[in-house]
Amino acid sequence: MLIAGNWKMFKGAHEARAFATRIRHLPERTQGVDVVVCPPFVSLQAALQGLGEESLVRVYAQNVHWELDGAFTGEVSAPMLLELGVKGAIVGHSERRQHFGETDETVRQRAEAGLEAGLSVIACVGETGTERESDETQDVLARQVGVLPRHERLVIAYEPVWAIGTGRTATPEMAQEAHAFIKSLHDAPVLYGGSVKPENALVLLGQPDVDGALVGGASLDPASFEAICLAGAEVAAA
Ligand code: PGA
Repeated sequence: MLIAGNWKMFKGAHEARAFATRIRHLPERTQGVDVVVCPPFVSLQAALQGLGEESLVRVYAQNVHWELDGAFTGEVSAPMLLELGVKGAIVGHSERRQHFGETDETVRQRAEAGLEAGLSVIACVGETGTERESDETQDVLARQVGVLPRHERLVIAYEPVWAIGTGRTATPEMAQEAHAFIKSLHDAPVLYGGSVKPENALVLLGQPDVDGALVGGASLDPASFEAICLAGAEVAAA
């Protein structure tokens, strides 16, 4: 079970350090759960400092470039992240696909390079509302999952775009159906993302093919992030 908090473009260094200090001992109370936070690039180091050397909480970035270095203004490479102590990265988040021209091909490149360099990778897939309404969910998932490499450090996050930041969560049945489909295509663990909150975490995480959650809004408050991680531990222990 993996619970990852995607902070998006929230929390500068000061806030990231304070949050990390508060949750540094959380994994001691959440047996069976790998706890991950994904701060913005500029707050990665502060989060690592707040956690300290001993903490089992891991820090991932929200993106990673496919080249080791070069003329790529605004990008960050895997060796740069590893040098800081960052253990992984999200790639292909729908906000990057929607607003920053990310494609299946660039997602594949980012995932492959990150894994090869030694990072863990959470690769995001998911259909838009229009795609679901026109019955294209499986085609979209097959296309997005189809490019992802096979690797023991790859995790897939199923994030239906219409459920992200909207308060409209997929029903547990919808999540389970999509996860089972993704698992028929790829053997990676599959996280659910899209309006996960303390109130719905238990039932979503309890679905047989849901291996964890990628949490946006509800990961920004330490108490609600802790509650979701505790729900994960309850499911892991069952
Ligand atoms: P949300 O975001 O939990 O705020 O819906 C999830 C995500 O975008 O990873």
